Amino acid sequence: MQLHFSPSMRSITISSSNGFIDLMKIKVGARHISYRTVFHTILILAFLLPFVFILTAVVTLEGVNKCSSFDCLGRRLGPRLLGRVDDSAQRLVRDFYKVLNQVNTEEIPAGLKLPDSFNQLVSEMKNNQYDARTFAFMLRAMMENFEKEVRESKFSELMNKHYAASSVPKSIHCLSLRLTDEYSSNAHARKQLPPPELLPLLSDNSYHHFVLSTDNILAASVVVASAVQSSLQPEKIVFHVITDKKTYAGMHSWFALNPVSPAIVEVKGVHQFDWLTRENVPVLEAVENQYGIRNYYHGNHILGANLSATTPRTFASKLQARSPKYISLLNHLRIYIPELFPNLDKVVFLDDDVVIQRDLSPLWGIDLGGKVNGAVETCRGEDEWVMSKRFRNYFNFSHPLVSKNLDPEECAWAYGMNIFDLNAWRKTNIRETYHSWVKENLKSNLTIWKLGTLPPALIAFRGHVHAIDPKWHMLGLGYQNKTDIESVSRAAVIHYNGQSKPWLQIGFEHLRPFWTKYINYSNDFVRNCHILES
Ligand SMILES: *[C@@H]1O[C@H](CO)[C@@H](O)[C@H](O)[C@H]1NC(C)=O
Ligand SMILES: *[C@@H]1O[C@H](CO)[C@@H](O)[C@H](O)[C@H]1NC(C)=O
Ligand SMILES: *[C@@H]1O[C@H](CO)[C@@H](O)[C@H](O)[C@H]1NC(C)=O
Ligand SMILES: *[C@@H]1O[C@H](CO)[C@@H](O)[C@H](O)[C@H]1NC(C)=O
Ligand SMILES: *[C@@H]1O[C@H](CO)[C@@H](O)[C@H](O)[C@H]1NC(C)=O
Repeated sequence: MQLHFSPSMRSITISSSNGFIDLMKIKVGARHISYRTVFHTILILAFLLPFVFILTAVVTLEGVNKCSSFDCLGRRLGPRLLGRVDDSAQRLVRDFYKVLNQVNTEEIPAGLKLPDSFNQLVSEMKNNQYDARTFAFMLRAMMENFEKEVRESKFSELMNKHYAASSVPKSIHCLSLRLTDEYSSNAHARKQLPPPELLPLLSDNSYHHFVLSTDNILAASVVVASAVQSSLQPEKIVFHVITDKKTYAGMHSWFALNPVSPAIVEVKGVHQFDWLTRENVPVLEAVENQYGIRNYYHGNHILGANLSATTPRTFASKLQARSPKYISLLNHLRIYIPELFPNLDKVVFLDDDVVIQRDLSPLWGIDLGGKVNGAVETCRGEDEWVMSKRFRNYFNFSHPLVSKNLDPEECAWAYGMNIFDLNAWRKTNIRETYHSWVKENLKSNLTIWKLGTLPPALIAFRGHVHAIDPKWHMLGLGYQNKTDIESVSRAAVIHYNGQSKPWLQIGFEHLRPFWTKYINYSNDFVRNCHILES
């Protein structure tokens, strides 16, 4: 943000680099400027600047904590104001700045009557109704109110985004319905996947096995298509797509009707795994039934939230944490991969919100050094937000179990693209650790952690993680708009983690093409369901 006084003091320009208010000019008419005119100009400036500041600060979701907007007004602008104007104006600005500073540390007088709008304040001011001190108080009170309103509207925007993010768009639902219908009416859609002669490859460890668990057919199609098209050896790829019972028929139809040969795809429903029984997966049953959980995930999130103590950023991550998807079996399934694929040695596990842009064969050559999980760490890197995750970001360190057992500074890692050495995994008690912590968390009424499946995995995989080069897996495309396009193009796998999934209306437009590139728009089902047409 810049403030510029022209040499003649005829115009004052405020510009904001963030594009909200690019250029705003206030003309000061008289050649010989009276004390009063300058004073009014400053007052008007004082109104405008905080607006610019508040908007840019809150809307970028960052920086809200750095300084309150009232502080910033003085700190950021004071020196600049003082540097550019002549003597009398300088004195004036300094006086005003001093008043602002004084008022800032004092209680706003009770019963201070505030004008309804800033316009009204300006006009009352022009009629000389207030001294500088009263004015400064009013300004501060109005700014605080305004800031509160902006915060509240920001929060309700986030709420709307949250609901938009957790409901399935009509077009994707349509795809699922039509493909399910096709399964019952078209024998081709029901044909065995893969064909019987290729079945042995499903457990052949000389192939590159990917596991993907999702109920989103379109997302699955993008993951599989992008992996196959980016591969230098597509004939070595075997995809194991796991879905829930209601999506199974549709998912099967899609891959039966749209083969990605020479790669091989297997589609499984959770109901087809004999291993997934109540005895083996006791925790999930408990998670779904626990008293209060439904309310926790589906209740009113804004009620009772202390907005003045919450930043939009932490609020957004709380909402994210409460997304119903975190209680779904498909999400917890990843902890049972060694049991679900008893014959496989090594797999790459992918989330459904990734796109593969490079050949991933080298992943099978990475030496995990006896570790179980090859993952990118999320505590080092250029991106301050995405790459700032340590254990303290996921766990409640006021809880005695947590403070006793965990180190708040330990680096976290990400799901999304993980290399799992299943042989090494089978020699550990990762699953038992996971179960016991999920149970503890339920017993503690979800006070140990809030965020679904990653925290228990962070504990369970402790000591079993091998950090891989972050260029394999770029995170954060669903969180923030300012993602660097260059890095996105270079990354081997990009991950739209966060709410702004590319298949949702709220997805970031300029990041979407990296995903839509792998949708076949000449496909009849895609066309008839009007996928991502606006
Ligand atoms: C909200 O948080 C602020 C700042 O931490 C605190 O002063 C205020 O009392 C809290 N309000 C409620 C209702 O808890
Ligand atoms: C668990 O939390 C819910 C809501 O936060 C509360 O209503 C309930 O009383 C708590 N139960 C226990 C046992 O603390
Ligand atoms: C963290 O744990 C403490 C101790 O069990 C508990 O009092 C507190 O409410 C927890 N905080 C959250 C946010 O759950
Ligand atoms: C995201 O940023 C791009 C360019 O930086 C801009 O064109 C676009 O409008 C922004 N979108 C949103 C949703 O903020
Ligand atoms: C796209 O779909 C059309 C029609 O189903 C098909 O002929 C074509 O091979 C597909 N293209 C790709 C790249 O899969």
